[in-house]
Amino acid sequence: MKIAILGAGNVGTALARRLSAAGHDIMLGFGRDPEAVAAAAEAAGVGYGSPEALAAFGDVIVIAVPWAAVGDALAALGPAAGKIVWDCTNPLAPDLSGLLVGGDTSGGEEIARLLPGARVIKGVPPFAELMHADDPFIAGAAPGLFVAGDDSEAKGIVAGLLAQLPATVVDAGPLMAARFIEPAMLLVVRLAYLKGMGPRIALTVQSEAAFG
Ligand SMILES: NC(=O)c1ccc[n+]([C@@H]2O[C@H](COP(=O)([O-])OP(=O)(O)OC[C@H]3O[C@@H](n4cnc5c(N)ncnc54)[C@H](OP(=O)(O)O)[C@@H]3O)[C@@H](O)[C@H]2O)c1
Repeated sequence: MKIAILGAGNVGTALARRLSAAGHDIMLGFGRDPEAVAAAAEAAGVGYGSPEALAAFGDVIVIAVPWAAVGDALAALGPAAGKIVWDCTNPLAPDLSGLLVGGDTSGGEEIARLLPGARVIKGVPPFAELMHADDPFIAGAAPGLFVAGDDSEAKGIVAGLLAQLPATVVDAGPLMAARFIEPAMLLVVRLAYLKGMGPRIALTVQSEAAFG
């Protein structure tokens, strides 16, 4: 699958490495310093391009920029009707005291509002440190993650990509469920960085029912 990743930082490069290793074609792009983006892509062993090139290339377009840069990233991307857009963002307040978007909307829904016709799926990946590590498992288990979206085919594709990171993926329902995923991810970030548990951490759901 052709995967275009906007954001060549911790998450963008980790996804590039993991998904490239799983056999996908990756193009990285979008950053304030084009030379740094090119260097990050070369270090990850993947291609890079302009936002226009990313939009044309990707069967799946990944949003992996800080929440404050999402508006600029989507404007640079341009129209994405019909594209699968995988939203990796956490709309966190910089001091981790709360979310910048929430309540009766979510980061995922705001991205969908800004990209009319795009098939937006919320799927916050594991911590970048975990994805960059030689051992991406937590005590031998794949980290637990959630997906949410209104397009079941697109959601299945993003869930499949998340599973290759690796992850154990729970389908949380429609895109509006991002309202509940994002606070849960804030909890995990707070446990990792404010409580000192570190980035080898994720949420698991215990159930006797099948996931998905
Ligand atoms: N880090 C994690 O473990 C983790 C896990 C799950 C989800 N997330 C979410 O994933 C997203 C990316 O996180 P990250 O840790 O990868 O961030 P990061 O390392 O700071 O990388 C962000 C990328 O976006 C670019 N960028 C930032 N501001 C920009 C701007 N105003 N204009 C153009 N480019 C800009 C950066 O390029 P520059 O070089 O120009 O700054 C960089 O390529 C965030 O929404 C985060 O909440 C993070």
